[in-house]
Amino acid sequence: MPTLEIIDRNGEHHSLSARAGDTVMEVLRDAGLPIEAVCGGCCVCATCHVYIDPDWVARLEPAKRGELALLEGCRYVDPALSRLGCQISLRPEDEGLALRLAPEE
Ligand code: FES
Repeated sequence: MPTLEIIDRNGEHHSLSARAGDTVMEVLRDAGLPIEAVCGGCCVCATCHVYIDPDWVARLEPAKRGELALLEGCRYVDPALSRLGCQISLRPEDEGLALRLAPEE
């Protein structure tokens, strides 16, 4: 059961428990954090945009082409840190994954 360390848009910290196989977006949404996830995880809306902590970027599976293409169109994209939360499926080794919510598009 990985725990995620989240910084919300107000700078507040949240420790959220997740199950392996959950996506980051699902964990954020189910915790009531303000992430729209309009497309429900189909990789077409980018409203699940997050910034991964720099220490964690290389430890995640790399983004696939569709995710990268969608991120390119985001106003607040950070090429080094941006990911779509719905495209990150959590693994047991993601214990302590740290990220913050990107601004609303
Ligand atoms: S929820 Fe729509 S792209 Fe992630």
